[in-house]
Amino acid sequence: MISKSIAERMNKGSWIRKMFEEGGRLKALYGAENVFDFSLGNPDLEPPAEVLDAIRELAVDPPPGLHGYMSNAGYLSTRQAVAELVSRRSGLDVPASAVCMTVGAGGALNVALKAILDPGDEVMILAPYFFEYTSYTGNHNGVPVIVSCDRETLLPDLDVIRHAITPRTKALILNSPNNPSGVIYPAEILVQLDALLKEIPQTIYVLSDEPYNELVFDNQTVPDTMAHISNAIICTSWSKSLSLAGDRIGYLAISPRCEDFDRLIDAVPFCNRTLGFVNAPAFFQRVVEKAIDARVDIKKYEERRDLLLGVLRDAGFEVNCPAGGIYLFPRSPIEDDVAFARACARHNVTLVPGTGFGFPGYVRLCFATSQATILGSARAFRIIGHEFGLN
Ligand SMILES: Cc1ncc(COP(=O)(O)O)c(C=O)c1O
Repeated sequence: MISKSIAERMNKGSWIRKMFEEGGRLKALYGAENVFDFSLGNPDLEPPAEVLDAIRELAVDPPPGLHGYMSNAGYLSTRQAVAELVSRRSGLDVPASAVCMTVGAGGALNVALKAILDPGDEVMILAPYFFEYTSYTGNHNGVPVIVSCDRETLLPDLDVIRHAITPRTKALILNSPNNPSGVIYPAEILVQLDALLKEIPQTIYVLSDEPYNELVFDNQTVPDTMAHISNAIICTSWSKSLSLAGDRIGYLAISPRCEDFDRLIDAVPFCNRTLGFVNAPAFFQRVVEKAIDARVDIKKYEERRDLLLGVLRDAGFEVNCPAGGIYLFPRSPIEDDVAFARACARHNVTLVPGTGFGFPGYVRLCFATSQATILGSARAFRIIGHEFGLN
């Protein structure tokens, strides 16, 4: 018999998975070319040449012991390369000892939460949010506290955050550029958040989940969380920036300004080990070390973003242009975003209701998909728009 709490969580399910499966069902019925699937955030660009070269070099000429265990925090040379990257971005002197290589951003978040939570501690999650945060928090006996961003700007509302803080608040998860909204949180908000957290008697760690950090458009930049927030722990990966989602490679970096820094740098590799990750994939630690400055061709994502924006706007949808990430987050034309997503599926278009991100009234579409899918969906979106009185 499986655990009651897991059974409960499985029942709630993930809207992304549900819609992805619905896409699969429709493809089997109508043929893949007649279904327009925008549900899953799976990067569809190949990794950049630097990554493919590094893979080849390592396979042909592997350093001794490449496939064995190493320190639970990862190879020292890889951690040094990451520490240099994080130091450059933050302007702080981040030592290699503050870096732990992880099994993706998901692994990093679980390790961070394991290291800091006592049972019943609260983790503040800003909606719209990546739906797994509640499970990750639950994994370590924490209590997720969902706090809504502003309904118009989709930016964190400092007053709402202030009111949601309790003596049990232990962490806040920040995700910018945001999945699903594509919004980048400006530096002023990070500065104000840091000031607010400093007023609170207990330490509140900010876990900065930033896998879309390198996927930003129109020459915009992402203000660095570690530069602006003292108790910052970066939890991130190369899943999106190098299209290595399946290879499960990421890192956790602890700000040298963090409260209890010395204990944290010991606790994190301990949790990496005892959660059963043991260490991040050895081969891909070496790969990212060699290709640390590479990233996928974001121009291609930018083109697709613009193409899908055009398709939706032509059909009459109200949609903001995302600054980063791989998603559009338009308003649902009716209040019930789940009903709207179901109506879209009737026209062979799959997208994810905002409800799946704790933010009803919106829907998410992933534009990391082929031009053919985007262009092919135009007719269906015009018909859907017409059905809902948008054109
Ligand atoms: C906001 C956010 N955080 C974390 C993850 C998990 O990333 P990873 O594949 O590195 O575990 C994702 C994946 O889609 C994501 O969108």
